[in-house]
Amino acid sequence: MEHLPGFRDFFPEPLPQGEAWSAAVREHIFGRWQTVARRYGFQFYDGPPVEPLELYTAKSGEEIVGQLYNFVDKGGRAVSLRPEMTPTVARMVAARERHYKKPLKWYSIPQLFRYERQQKGRLREHFQLNADIFGEADTAADAELIALLIDLLRAFGLTADDFVIRLSSRNAWQDFYQRRGNDPAKAYDFFQIVDKLERADPVQSDIKLREHGFTLDELRAFIQGGEPTDELRRVLDNLAARGLADFVKIDYTVIRGLAYYTGVVYEAFDRHGKFRAIAGGGRYDQLVKLVSGGQVDMPAAGFAMGDVVLTELLKDRAKLPTFGERLDAYVLVEDETRRAASLGLVQRLRDAGFVVDLPLTPMKPDKQFKRAQEAGAVHTLCVLPESVVRIKRLATRAETTLPLEGVIPHLQANGN
Ligand code: HAM
Repeated sequence: MEHLPGFRDFFPEPLPQGEAWSAAVREHIFGRWQTVARRYGFQFYDGPPVEPLELYTAKSGEEIVGQLYNFVDKGGRAVSLRPEMTPTVARMVAARERHYKKPLKWYSIPQLFRYERQQKGRLREHFQLNADIFGEADTAADAELIALLIDLLRAFGLTADDFVIRLSSRNAWQDFYQRRGNDPAKAYDFFQIVDKLERADPVQSDIKLREHGFTLDELRAFIQGGEPTDELRRVLDNLAARGLADFVKIDYTVIRGLAYYTGVVYEAFDRHGKFRAIAGGGRYDQLVKLVSGGQVDMPAAGFAMGDVVLTELLKDRAKLPTFGERLDAYVLVEDETRRAASLGLVQRLRDAGFVVDLPLTPMKPDKQFKRAQEAGAVHTLCVLPESVVRIKRLATRAETTLPLEGVIPHLQANGN
């Protein structure tokens, strides 16, 4: 039986033929995400993968609501698999913010579910690194987040030649929208048109924009002007002070599809425009208030980076290491009368922190040796009579024989 369309199996290396996803690549990505997020002082949190449907219907905006994996549970509750993490974290912060000193810097690596039309870079399930700052209204928080986003991508060996952060502002667009005295409550409809501009038919976009009193040419002129607002200037100056100016550019085509953004917004793209967005985020100062029914008013900003586009990009740029099994030692059981002694040795080595494997059941010695090689073992060990161990270093084929007590110090001294 196959997995559902848009879902993935993650296999260990070496990968089977075809379009297999690598569990080792996923681990590698999560590891780098975690290391860099912690380097910036972000703390780990997590939430439930199933939430009340209501959490999304009023807060995320049409696009995502149309993609929900929602159902009625056995208790008659309208629920949904989480399509994004932001409403969950806003709910969690609203409920427990008093307990924490501000600003909060939190990160998570959730698996998310969106019933999207399957295409390159878009699946029905994906993982995201989410990093968010709560309780800081200053653009310094936006800049800190963008710096983190840049460093996350640099941690995979990507450079300013590989990617760029396209920086924009909902405030700038809100001001533009209100030039015609438009009703601010209708701004989201307008933002949706701007969000789709790059992919939509220009004639259709023009017709829709005219309903709001604008023409496509006017919009294009505003985008091409690309003048940073004071707010964006502060973000740019902050990033320049960190030496990160080369990684960002003002680009008003970015507005973000989600409903809750209120200020600085941005998306990370590969420089050649070959892939979908690698990451996206921005400020959302009203969401905590909305989720808490007006109880807690707290500024917030954050972004998320998905694993799907990132994996495609890292493959394309040959920035993924080669993965394989690697054992410190494979314990050969050449004589079954010494299996108990071999198990004793395996246990001692594992207790000491070594990565060790052995044949679970009787196997021909040459097969065992082959298995040790395939598993990338640095050494093979074999318990001989009288608690003596034969140690072979596979790379050089050099052999020594040591008493049992000598094995751990020997492996420690000759680890790599
Ligand atoms: P988003 O732009 O919907 O933002 O998603 C962020 C990233 O997740 C995208 O740039 C993309 O890499 C990845 N992604 C999204 N949907 C899919 C999909 N169907 N398949 C594969 N990858 C996907 C958010 O989710 C916001 N909640 C981010 C945020 C956090 N804003 C503030 N804090």
